[in-house]
Amino acid sequence: MNRKVTIVGSGNVGATAARSIADKELADVVLIDILEGIPQGKALDMYEACPIEGSDSRVLGTNDYADTAGSDIAVITAGLARKPGMSRDDLLTKNYEIVKSVTEQIVKHSPNCIIVPVTNPLDAMAQVVFRVSGFPRERVIGMAGVLDSARMRAFIAMELKVSVENTHAFVLGGHGDTMVPLPRYSTVAGIPITELLDQTTIDRIVDRTANGGAEIVRLLGTGSAYYAPGSAVVEMVDAILKDKKKILPCSVFLRGEYGISDLFVGVPVKLGARGAEQIVEITLTDQERAALHKSAAAVRELVAVIKV
Ligand code: LAC
Repeated sequence: MNRKVTIVGSGNVGATAARSIADKELADVVLIDILEGIPQGKALDMYEACPIEGSDSRVLGTNDYADTAGSDIAVITAGLARKPGMSRDDLLTKNYEIVKSVTEQIVKHSPNCIIVPVTNPLDAMAQVVFRVSGFPRERVIGMAGVLDSARMRAFIAMELKVSVENTHAFVLGGHGDTMVPLPRYSTVAGIPITELLDQTTIDRIVDRTANGGAEIVRLLGTGSAYYAPGSAVVEMVDAILKDKKKILPCSVFLRGEYGISDLFVGVPVKLGARGAEQIVEITLTDQERAALHKSAAAVRELVAVIKV
């Protein structure tokens, strides 16, 4: 393969994303972790699946950042995950240290890559990557909105008993309890769900979406979600590597868009070979705008704690 994707963190999200990238033969994959043996073991296991899957992606597990050199994309999943009762924000200071040192290593070996932060609390960690890397904002794109929208799409499909493929959903804001699912822009075969479902049902879907991560944490008892987060990472990687110009909700550094400045918040962006090539501004009602600003304020509180 002539494309290379590094996945930092060989835990559940990292390994799930790595496996899927290899299965789809999107790129060679380097799985890196500070733990010894785990990335090597998981990567070898994935490589050994490739003959069956018919994929010539080469998968390498390592503890040495030299092996990540020249990556097109680096996905950062390293860090602690939530335990039951914890919010994403409880992870702030520990994951800050981890993400900071990972970013320094990535930048050293792949100065031209696009970084996709996944570690929580997502928007604050994306801001850490942006500040530490010194990359232009187009090349730091946080994964959250694709996951939150996928959850909302699944809930809409369950409710209306339609194909998930017919569903489209938009979730903006920070990846936390204040995220802003937008029913007006969420559709089934192009029809807004506000015309298909009553308000009580929509409210229930919105609430379940905003608490979708916590629902999985509660069910698992230990650790947090990884199949849907892994798939969400791969949709972004695919859009970038194939230069698809796909519009997806991602966390990006805003400079006045939506009336928000100097902060990572989830908004629709166009993903292509250059990264977040365009920030798409959609019209919001006063209520939706207020909810987005409330969500941004929650992210701002976090970045103030770690001063990034
Ligand atoms: C979630 C975590 C990964 O939403 O943030 O499941």
